[in-house]
Amino acid sequence: MTYARIIGTGSYLPEKVMTNEELATFVDTSDAWIRERSGIGQRHIAAEGETTVDLAEHASRRAIEAAGLQPEDIDLIVMATTTPDQVFPSSACLLQARLGNVGSPAFDIQAVCSGFVYALSVADQFVRNGSAKRALVIGAETFTRILNWEDRTTCVLFGDGAGAVVLEASEEQGILSTHLHADGRYSECLHVPPGVSQGYQAVLEGRAWVEMKGSEVFRMAVAKMGEVVEEALEANGLNREELDWLIPHQANIRIIKATARKLHMSMDKVVLTVEHHGNTSAASIPLALDAAVRDGRVQRGQLLMLEAFGGGFTWGSALLRY
Ligand code: ACO
Repeated sequence: MTYARIIGTGSYLPEKVMTNEELATFVDTSDAWIRERSGIGQRHIAAEGETTVDLAEHASRRAIEAAGLQPEDIDLIVMATTTPDQVFPSSACLLQARLGNVGSPAFDIQAVCSGFVYALSVADQFVRNGSAKRALVIGAETFTRILNWEDRTTCVLFGDGAGAVVLEASEEQGILSTHLHADGRYSECLHVPPGVSQGYQAVLEGRAWVEMKGSEVFRMAVAKMGEVVEEALEANGLNREELDWLIPHQANIRIIKATARKLHMSMDKVVLTVEHHGNTSAASIPLALDAAVRDGRVQRGQLLMLEAFGGGFTWGSALLRY
């Protein structure tokens, strides 16, 4: 049986760090409020002119290097982003041109904060059915570009960054399952209302910002992130005690703790980066995975549960043997 196995991880955060204290100099908020409600202490902000593809390129090169490969060894690029550089071509194509592995398929996935799990699932199908041997899967965002810095209920929560993994076809166990879901009826709970098909006027008027019904997002996120873990464990005949690490989307420490409590999982088994990164949308899971791989917490052979929830609503899991 062929599996898609992670053979390299990489990530990148923009240099500029914005602490809560700095944010509070121009937004009516405080370090104490942000920490208590979200667990966030700081976020990284892309420099002027620095784009999602710039961040993705750094993360991808690091993942490819960690895999011991060259860019030309990659035969599929799937990139999750909500903040693409251009309307078209896709950010995956722009990235491909920089990496130089022309000819392989390259495309974007848009599932907001669940984007990386969606992208991983798609790439997994390509690898398992033999259409690709080595896939580059990226989650990258310059999410702070779509924030209204006058809306304290949203702007304090998000940050910029990118994470990537290289998957390789292997007889050894890798991704064991992915489960994806969406419920478009909730689209207005978390959205950026204008889009190009409505014409550019709304964008030019400066209304292309994230709007969020925070308490509804919170409630649904906890419910669905719990369900999706149970679904994956049941499909694989596993108990939650067998999981070595839960690597959740880093939206908010309260969502993560509530999910862990629901699953009776110790927080010692949960990888957390939300304090330092904020919510980086599609980048948050591969950023957290790379951090835990590089500091030695995640070891070969361990069982990892990746799970996400985001705008759409979308949600999903990926269970894998690292
Ligand atoms: N600083 C200070 N005060 C604030 C801020 C702020 N940044 N934002 C809101 N407040 C105030 C409100 O105005 C309100 O004041 P009031 O009582 O005088 O009206 C008070 O704080 C409480 O506001 P609530 O919205 O009730 O606060 P709550 O405890 O629900 O926390 C939060 C808000 C953090 C947004 C919470 O609802 C949440 O975590 N929701 C999930 C949202 C999320 O994580 N979204 C990320 C995208 S989705 C995803 O990635 C899963």
